[in-house]
Amino acid sequence: MGKDVIIACDFAGAEQTYAFLEKFGDKRPFVKIGMELFYAAGPSIVTKLKERGHKVFLDLKLHDIPNTVRKSMAVLSGLGADMVNLHAAGTIDMMKAALEGLTRPDGTRPLLIAVTQLTSTSQERMENDLLIKEPIDQVVLHYANNAKIAGLDGVVCSPLEAGKVHERCGSEFFTVTPGVRFADGDVGDQVRVTTPEKAKEIGSDYIVVGRPITAAEDPLAAYERCMKEFVD
Ligand code: C5P
Repeated sequence: MGKDVIIACDFAGAEQTYAFLEKFGDKRPFVKIGMELFYAAGPSIVTKLKERGHKVFLDLKLHDIPNTVRKSMAVLSGLGADMVNLHAAGTIDMMKAALEGLTRPDGTRPLLIAVTQLTSTSQERMENDLLIKEPIDQVVLHYANNAKIAGLDGVVCSPLEAGKVHERCGSEFFTVTPGVRFADGDVGDQVRVTTPEKAKEIGSDYIVVGRPITAAEDPLAAYERCMKEFVD
């Protein structure tokens, strides 16, 4: 599994998504479908994008009792997703159950990655709301390590955390990193950002890029620039 750029298709519906992807001609980028698009368009968006030749990361962040997660993951796997995720906070047992559910009768399965602490969670909120008193960077690494123990393939994290995750969990355990911006681009509402080139240097395995591509005047050119900076 090589390095790749995943485009975050944060659109409100299927038609907008297909219209956007038309701009890529015969290129079939790896795409991320989040909760908004999945809930609006329904599961058929996954099968349709797969039929068109895209790889699909389903960013649905499952978190429930192990039995429910096992059965739900089996459904997502059946749609043909290439990568799915869950909250590491659901515990090692839940993550193991997810892997069981994902494994298809032929032995293949989508890649499974974990969300550690959401980047929207501050140290203060984590301490006061969740009663977790450790430093947040330690909590992130602990959750990443739990994901590794459960047999997962990697974590979603900030590119700035990717190096530490690899130090703790090994270089084979991969990092999928949003918060990517071009050096000369708009930061928008992201706080801790890095360029595709820098993300490559730090050791991200996949970058998730939304608005720098989806809102670009020429999305294909922006995508190719990301590929050139990150993959080539
Ligand atoms: O448009 P932008 O490049 O900021 O999009 C980043 C994508 O990655 C969005 O779909 C966002 O929800 C997702 N994401 C993130 N930060 C996280 C986890 C997911 O930006 N910690």
